[in-house]
Amino acid sequence: MKTKLLIIGIVLALFSCNPKDKQVTEITSPNNNIEVSFNINEEGKPFYKVKFNNKTIVDTSYLGFEFKDAPAFKENFIIKNMTIKSFNETWQMPWGEQLDVVNNYNELKVELQEKTSPERFLNIVFKVYDDGIGFRYEFPKQTKFKGDVLIKEEHTEFNLTEDYKTFWIPGDWDIYEHLYSTTKLSEIDAIAYAEHVNLAQTHIPENAVNTPVTMVGENGIHLSFHEAALVDYSGMTLKVDTTNLNLKSNLVGSKNTDYKVKRSLPFNTPWRTIQITDNAPDLIESKLIVNLNEPNKLGDVSWFKPMKYTGVWWEMHLGKSSWDYGMEMVDGRWTDTGKAHGKHGATTENVKNFIDFSAKNNIGGVLVEGWNTGWERWIGFEDREGVFDFVTTYPDYDIDEVVRYGKEKGVDIIMHHETSAATETYEKQQDAAYALMQKYEMHAVKSGYVGKILPKGEYHHGQYMVNQYNNAAIKAAKYEVAVNAHEPIKATGLRRTYPNIISREGLRGQEFNAWAEDGGNPPEHLPIVAFTRMLAGPIDFTPGIFNIKFDEYKKNNQVNTTLAQQLALYVVIYSPIQMAADLVEHYEANPKPLQFIRDVGVDWEKSLVLNGEIGDYVTIARKERQTENWYIGGITDENSVTHVLVFDFLDDNQVYDAIIYKDGKNAHWNDNPLDIEIEKMELNKNSRLIVNLAEGGGFAMSLKKK
Ligand code: NOJ
Ligand code: CA
Repeated sequence: MKTKLLIIGIVLALFSCNPKDKQVTEITSPNNNIEVSFNINEEGKPFYKVKFNNKTIVDTSYLGFEFKDAPAFKENFIIKNMTIKSFNETWQMPWGEQLDVVNNYNELKVELQEKTSPERFLNIVFKVYDDGIGFRYEFPKQTKFKGDVLIKEEHTEFNLTEDYKTFWIPGDWDIYEHLYSTTKLSEIDAIAYAEHVNLAQTHIPENAVNTPVTMVGENGIHLSFHEAALVDYSGMTLKVDTTNLNLKSNLVGSKNTDYKVKRSLPFNTPWRTIQITDNAPDLIESKLIVNLNEPNKLGDVSWFKPMKYTGVWWEMHLGKSSWDYGMEMVDGRWTDTGKAHGKHGATTENVKNFIDFSAKNNIGGVLVEGWNTGWERWIGFEDREGVFDFVTTYPDYDIDEVVRYGKEKGVDIIMHHETSAATETYEKQQDAAYALMQKYEMHAVKSGYVGKILPKGEYHHGQYMVNQYNNAAIKAAKYEVAVNAHEPIKATGLRRTYPNIISREGLRGQEFNAWAEDGGNPPEHLPIVAFTRMLAGPIDFTPGIFNIKFDEYKKNNQVNTTLAQQLALYVVIYSPIQMAADLVEHYEANPKPLQFIRDVGVDWEKSLVLNGEIGDYVTIARKERQTENWYIGGITDENSVTHVLVFDFLDDNQVYDAIIYKDGKNAHWNDNPLDIEIEKMELNKNSRLIVNLAEGGGFAMSLKKK
């Protein structure tokens, strides 16, 4: 790793902007396209502005805080000191969308002090990159701030200058599993959206959106607002002022306190981020969010290997089998009282079947859900504390035998910890649970937080839960366990610091297609997700459903894409663990498309976004680290699209054996989703290929060096 830190020094770009002489400090991105200026107004209120290609995109936006038991940080500040420096390094991801990541920015640090008593200090740091900006507040150690800092609200503004086309989900304090709405910024109405939501957990108190929220301007400016390094703080939603086109931070709170964040000095807030590009593909290629996080604190993490996995999972969502066995609680213990219903999915035999299938098909892991006692009371029960223990198996699941068999076949078992959001139980059980995994050499756990949080009054996205998720991952690392959380806190690039945070849900995943009463995820869902949720980090979407209509299980649900699109998702959606989610029998009936799942990589040297328009279509090419083979995936929304692919990214003088899996002539996500054409060809860097994507369709390609 090469780190080059160049301190330009305290050379400030200070100049007078009005006769009253206000200090203005500007810094620009390394390529000069983005410019941030900071100032304080006559009342001493701090504010900033952002320009992109000389156009103001964030106009005068004030910054401040409201505290409990202390006067607000609002005005009355003077600038004590300002420093500018430049930074340029290249760091490596242990696994990821790419190997090398360039982290190059100019930084402005402003040190503020209140002009009059209590004369407290606040620093604001801006980092300006070629692909956007990040800024955060630093609360230095100081005697003038007595006791803990109790933040009632953070007042960070983003005062926008255009009525952007906006892709948003509501600012729910409890769940991100919502469909995206596409409206003008001035037409965002999260409250109206909230009236139609029917989920086990949801709390949408304001007309606010969650992040990442992505916008497109008339002249092609693309913006995405988010946060980086969310640590010991609550998640930020953005309250929308539809009249003034202004976004304002609205932190997630708790019913148990009349403040939203409690910290002791010194501390830093998460980074408030804006990714800024002049086209949609560059948003996906942006590495701003990970760059704003600290380097790897875990050291060698080679005990985790990126992998594809199958699992005892989709069958429960389809209703073919169940998580629970049919036990009863007797004297505080789960007891087999002879009421087993015979539908239990996680049996030794069933898991062995998945192990066999995985071993035959170049798939490294098998997830087993419903293996431990407690599933009889996991959802819809108030008293969920103590229900799960994460070590006691159901009688028909022989974990020793399953792990032994897996090892014999070279297949890892992926652990599952559904906490049902009873966090105190989970906290108490974590050491025992991770130690069990270590004993079996299991290196990955999928965790889940379904339902309202216990302790009551907390929300999934507040400071209490941010700490739960982060601490679980930090503890897991000690046992060489990597975490894939469902119903998680948003991804904010912490995977750089703790690479064992491998993936997460945090969106409407494939499961909604199995049971959502609204008909599942519409074809536009993933072409929006790629430019919103995916900017935050890896997604455990669980693609690869071949039996698209599954009428034998559920007549009123289906996957709303073509089969070819299901293959494309292995490349379009990034995750170092990628599920082949369908049932073994559905794959075995379709060996030809299955070949793509067998072949496709999960760990990349390089990723290129070949084309894309938010909510319409996107095509991504990724080069596999170990083999230097390329894989390409393209998806579209409910409209068909034709692309002319060029392959100039391929190696010079190299011929590739390519296979394309594309929508057939009559393919359509609803009318004919299984119509797929598979074609073999030879390609090199001068090749061109025309590919048609059907309505709700896609294509996948493998290109292996000849
Ligand atoms: C919700 C998760 O998203 C899903 O994948 C899992 O099967 C269930 N919870 C049960 O834990
Ligand atoms: Ca979920």
